[in-house]
Amino acid sequence: MRWFLLYFILSIPTHLASQVSYYKDIAPIIKKHCQNCHQDGDIGPMALTNYDQVSSYASMIRFVIDTKLMPPFKANYDNVSYANERSISNDERKLIAQWIEGGLVKGISTNPAETETQAYTTNYDHTVCMSESFAHYGIYYDQYQVFPMPTNLMEDKYIDNVYFEPGNKEIVRSANISIAPLGFSTKMDQWDPRYGFFAYGSLGFTSSFPNWFSWMPHTKNIQLKKDEQLFLPAESELLLHIHYGPFGTIEKDSSCIHLTFSDNEGPTLQNVPLIHTALLADSFLIDSGIQKRVSSTFQLPIDVRLRSVTPLAHLLCRSWEVFAVLPDRSSISILSIDDWDFHWREKYVFQDALTLPKGTKIYTTANFDNTSDNPYNPSDPPHTMIAGPHMFDENFACYFEFDQSESSDGYIVKPFVSTEMSINEISFHISNADTFTLILHDLESLDKKELTAKKYPLGMHALRTAELPSKPGRYCISLESSNGVVDSWWFVIF
Ligand code: HEC
Repeated sequence: MRWFLLYFILSIPTHLASQVSYYKDIAPIIKKHCQNCHQDGDIGPMALTNYDQVSSYASMIRFVIDTKLMPPFKANYDNVSYANERSISNDERKLIAQWIEGGLVKGISTNPAETETQAYTTNYDHTVCMSESFAHYGIYYDQYQVFPMPTNLMEDKYIDNVYFEPGNKEIVRSANISIAPLGFSTKMDQWDPRYGFFAYGSLGFTSSFPNWFSWMPHTKNIQLKKDEQLFLPAESELLLHIHYGPFGTIEKDSSCIHLTFSDNEGPTLQNVPLIHTALLADSFLIDSGIQKRVSSTFQLPIDVRLRSVTPLAHLLCRSWEVFAVLPDRSSISILSIDDWDFHWREKYVFQDALTLPKGTKIYTTANFDNTSDNPYNPSDPPHTMIAGPHMFDENFACYFEFDQSESSDGYIVKPFVSTEMSINEISFHISNADTFTLILHDLESLDKKELTAKKYPLGMHALRTAELPSKPGRYCISLESSNGVVDSWWFVIF
């Protein structure tokens, strides 16, 4: 009996201490993994910011966590670790199960701030806002508008971070920022009498830095890491391309872009579609009623540090596989998605940049299902699909974001990739009185060809497309002085 009592006395406090409660155990998990999207005014269909809300959805929460539907993250992270990975650990998953089985104990609140709010820095160095507010039609139509926004910066800047602040969270679905020289988009702007101009998937012309920065509600503002920066040339305009979701009432938006400057003039990031439908040997066509595997490879002409990868396909796509084979024949996994979902597309940022030497081959494969078994197939019965920017077309592109590793020549490569149907010109700036040579690099064969050896006067110059090769493929043009490469552009000939 005495023995039994002792056991009883000892077991009570231990049992109480290990009891799973909302405030002690569950609130921190929900705050960390769920509230980024599940709070008022955000994309999650319900807020999960207090005991009543979380407990009333308890069994549904357990289901979505156990089936890995939530938190949503499509890439497998067994072989690669991503900085923006959203995953909940097995221990956290177990705690939620125990909390539900134990009767949803509330516990005692020790921290009054239950809601996770985004840690926005308020110390911006520079802010650029839309100069007018844009009124969306209000007739349940998606709208895509480009707003040219002069930076009013007279010197080149290195950017530590970009924060996109949607003016109206109800309608702003995604934003993509590209950079062009000031006034570059004036002609495009003129055809649309409204503020900015309509452009569906692409800008309608090639900017100097396409996809400089992108934002989606579920990716929020991805922070650049300590050693990462973006380049913003003097006298540029930011081309803010916003997708407004369908809405039944006229809604207005005036969004802003905040920038913080870096003192470090190191290598800058570039985000380039090295894999693209236009580069495939065969035309990109997916016949009705078939499943098709589409692959493409790319050989790196320089040493790079790969920072992120962004695959892009639409509704027929089911899976992605991207890996690299190094010159020493070893291979590295880059990305694997086995249940691609158009609505959860995102940029996968590596925890540690992948160092890939010159000559590395990158292999990319996506599987498309154009049968009626694909629940996301936009047509019933299925019909033949071609590449296009609209959601009900199909697409196959993969963006690779990198900077050059230190073993490269130490110059900054500025990207120039055209995903447009035509390229008019490449513009470049000469800032010292040297003789410059333009050299064309064929990125498939790594062959080089000198285009000009010319003494350009100081200032801006343009190279017309008529001077470029006509053979389809990926190219790079480097501008070289007697000191080495000073600038370069990547581009695609369709
Ligand atoms: C990146 C944003 C995001 C995160 C993080 C997230 N959710 Fe969601 N959640 C959504 C969206 C959006 C939906 C709506 C369904 C969809 O689009 O898949 C959803 C749907 C749900 C649903 C189904 C609701 C319904 O009515 O169908 C539950 C339950 C849920 N989330 C729970 C969670 C939990 C629990 C977490 C954290 C472990 C979490 N979510 C993390 C965005 C998110």
